[in-house]
Amino acid sequence: MRLDASKNFDTLRTARLLAQRIRSDDCRVLARLYADPEVMATLGGVMPDVEARTRRFVDHMLEHWDSRGYGLYLLRLPTGAFVGYSGLRHVHVGGAEELEIFYALHAQFWNQGYATEMATRLCMLALDEICAPDVVAFTLPGNHASRRVMEKAGLRYERDVNWRNIVHVLYRRRRAGGASG
Ligand SMILES: CC(C)(COP(=O)(O)OP(=O)(O)OC[C@H]1O[C@@H](n2cnc3c(N)ncnc32)[C@H](O)[C@@H]1OP(=O)(O)O)[C@@H](O)C(=O)NCCC(=O)NCCS
Repeated sequence: MRLDASKNFDTLRTARLLAQRIRSDDCRVLARLYADPEVMATLGGVMPDVEARTRRFVDHMLEHWDSRGYGLYLLRLPTGAFVGYSGLRHVHVGGAEELEIFYALHAQFWNQGYATEMATRLCMLALDEICAPDVVAFTLPGNHASRRVMEKAGLRYERDVNWRNIVHVLYRRRRAGGASG
């Protein structure tokens, strides 16, 4: 599904964050996040070839933007400080294609409500603006901070799924008035 070209979601704003569409030259700032062991502890650990992998991920997300009209955002404060990333993407998980909300922030910004603020904005984008029937998020069972973000953004635990051969908990939020089940 490619959105109507008149709809532009390149920039999103929350009360405290500016979210901007990823650009090709954002690789370096993202690679620094992916090179941080504290951030990566719940994301599979720091990869040995972090810069090349970041490049591949960014290229994939640029394609996602081109084909869908939404995707990965970099998050900044009004000061310009880089907080982390978040986004909305299509993934195949648990045997189905799902629309996923994802996020990771530099540790100095944890526990200040930023991920919840952005996840809530992305729920609005997915359900009210893109009009998807539902949106999911998933994480390791022990990632209580991420699970809490999902709950605060209105997602509810649905089931366990395998993601890259590791058990994850999958949460879902449906569009108000959409089909139940
Ligand atoms: C997950 C992550 C994005 C959360 O970001 P954040 O901005 O700190 O999230 P918020 O501040 O909006 O909310 C965090 C909530 O988790 C709670 N929390 C934090 N650590 C917790 C823990 N160990 N156990 C239980 N709750 C915890 C906080 O108290 C807060 O809940 P509250 O508002 O009810 O007090 C951040 O920790 C992160 O970037 N982690 C590394 C990458 C990652 O795991 N990404 C998610 C992959 S699915």
